[in-house]
Amino acid sequence: MLKELFVFVLGLPILLAFVYDTGQSALADRSLSVLEELIEGPLFGSNLVLYFDPSLDVDFVNNFVTLKVFRYISLIHVDLGSNGSIWSQKQPLEVLRGSYYIHIIICDTDITPFFESVSLEWNPKYILIYSLNADLIWILQEKVFQGIERLAYMSLLPSSLNTTNIRIGLYTYFPFFKENSLSLLGVWNKDSYANVENIFIDRYQSFEGAVFHLGTWFDDFPYLYQSKTEPEGIGEGVEVEMLDAIAATLNFSYTLTTEPPDLKWGAFVNGTWTGMLGMVHRKDKNFTINYFVITSERVKAFDATVSYWMEGFGMSMMSPPPLPKWRGTYYSFRSDVWLGIAVTYILIVLLMTIQDKIQEKPFFGKRTSKWVYFVQALVNQGMTKLPRAQWQRVFIGWWLLYCFIVTIAYTANLIAFLTIPVFPERVQTVQQLAESDYG
Ligand SMILES: *[C@@H]1O[C@H](CO)[C@@H](O)[C@H](O)[C@H]1NC(C)=O
Ligand SMILES: *[C@@H]1O[C@H](CO)[C@@H](O)[C@H](O)[C@H]1NC(C)=O
Ligand SMILES: *[C@@H]1O[C@H](CO)[C@@H](O)[C@H](O)[C@H]1NC(C)=O
Ligand SMILES: *[C@@H]1O[C@H](CO)[C@@H](O)[C@H](O)[C@H]1NC(C)=O
Ligand SMILES: *[C@@H]1O[C@H](CO)[C@@H](O)[C@H](O)[C@H]1NC(C)=O
Repeated sequence: MLKELFVFVLGLPILLAFVYDTGQSALADRSLSVLEELIEGPLFGSNLVLYFDPSLDVDFVNNFVTLKVFRYISLIHVDLGSNGSIWSQKQPLEVLRGSYYIHIIICDTDITPFFESVSLEWNPKYILIYSLNADLIWILQEKVFQGIERLAYMSLLPSSLNTTNIRIGLYTYFPFFKENSLSLLGVWNKDSYANVENIFIDRYQSFEGAVFHLGTWFDDFPYLYQSKTEPEGIGEGVEVEMLDAIAATLNFSYTLTTEPPDLKWGAFVNGTWTGMLGMVHRKDKNFTINYFVITSERVKAFDATVSYWMEGFGMSMMSPPPLPKWRGTYYSFRSDVWLGIAVTYILIVLLMTIQDKIQEKPFFGKRTSKWVYFVQALVNQGMTKLPRAQWQRVFIGWWLLYCFIVTIAYTANLIAFLTIPVFPERVQTVQQLAESDYG
C-alpha cells in the first residue's frame, strides 16, 4: 500500500511533466510550421530583422534558424537580451525605420525592456510579434509599439489549447477604437493570408474622433496665421486647410497653439529640442504642422510628411564690364606659357653659345648678337644668315619650327580675344563671394 502510494506520488509529477511537455512541443512544432509558412508565403522576398527572446527553448530557435527558406533571405538577428540602446546605435537607418525590413519578434516573455531602450530612430513600419505564450497579448498595447503603423501579433488560440489541432490566431490592436481594441483578425491558414497587407492591417484608418494637441505658431503666413475674421486663437492658412481635409477623412479634431513658450521654431541646443519641435519632443503636444525646413538633424529625431513646398534662394549682382581690348595682347597666353617661352629662348641662346665655343670656326662673330639673332623667328621675321655646320642648321631648324607654332597660336588667340569681349572671372560660389571685396 505504502509502496503503491510512493510510486503514485513519484509518478504524478513525471506524468504531469510529460503532458505539459508534449503540449509545449506540440505548440513549438506548430509554431515552427506556421513561421515557415509565413516566411515562405506572404513574407517571401522581404528582408527580415528577427528578434529572439533569450528565454526561448534552444532547440526551437535552432530548428527555426535552420529552416531551408532562410537560405534565400537577407536576415538580421537580434538578441532581445542584449542592450537595445547599444544595438540601435550601430544600425543604419534603413534597418531601424521604414518598410525596407519586416521585423519579427519571437518571444515567450515580456520583451519590452529592450524596446524601451532603443533609440528614437527605431520606428519600423511592419512588426510581427510571434508569441509562444498566449498570455502575452497585452504587449500590443505597450507604449513602445504605439507608433508602429502595422503591428500584428500571433499566438496560440486559447480555445485550441487541449485539442489535437492547435490553431494560431492573428491579432492586432487599434489604439483609437474605444471598445474591442484588441482584435482577433483571424486564424492562421496560409491560403487566406497571401500577401503582406493581409497580415499587417493599417491600425490608423480612423482616429475615432480623437483630439490632438498641436504645437504650432501663428507666424507663418500664408501657411498658418491668426484668422482676421475669427477670434484670437483660431488659425487660418494653407496648413489649416490641409489639416481640416485630413481630419475629416481620418475622423479627428485638433487644438492649435498660438505660439511656443520660448518663441523658437525648433533646434537641437545643448542636448534638448527648443521651440515647437521641443513641445513635440517632450510630448507636451502630439505634433506640429508649421512650415519647417527639413534638416538632417530634424529628420533623425522626427518623422515628417512628404514635402509640399520647395523654395530656392538666389543672389544677383551687376555683371562687371569687359576687360579692355589692349589686354588681349598678353591675355592670348597664360602666364606659365609666357614663362615657358622666355625660358626656352634663354636656353636656346645659351646652348648656341656653348656650341659656338667648340666650333673651329664660330658662326657668330663678335659683332652679331645671339640674342637678336634668335628673337627674329619669334617675332615672325626670317633668318637672313644660317650657320655652315650641318648639325647647327638642324638645331636652328627645330627652333624655327617651334617659333612657327608659337606665333600661329598667339595670332589665333589674339584674333579671338579682339573679336569676343573678355570678362573678369565672376563669382561662382559662396566661398568666392566671401573672399571677394563686395561689401
Ligand atoms: C545600455 O547601454 C547604455 C549605454 O549605451 C547604458 O546607459 C544603459 O544603462 C544600458 N542598459 C542596460 C539595461 O544595461
Ligand atoms: C486544458 O487542460 C488543462 C489540464 O487538463 C485544464 O486545466 C484547462 O482548463 C484546459 N483548457 C481548455 C481550454 O480546455
Ligand atoms: C468619428 O468617430 C466617432 C467616435 O467613434 C463616431 O461617433 C463618429 O461617428 C465618427 N465620425 C465619422 C464621420 O465617422
Ligand atoms: C547652452 O549651454 C551654454 C553653456 O552651458 C550656455 O552658455 C548657453 O546659454 C546654453 N544655450 C541655451 C540656448 O540654453
Ligand atoms: C497627445 O498629447 C497629450 C499630451 O498633450 C497626451 O496626453 C496624449 O496621450 C497624446 N495623444 C496621443 C494619441 O499620443
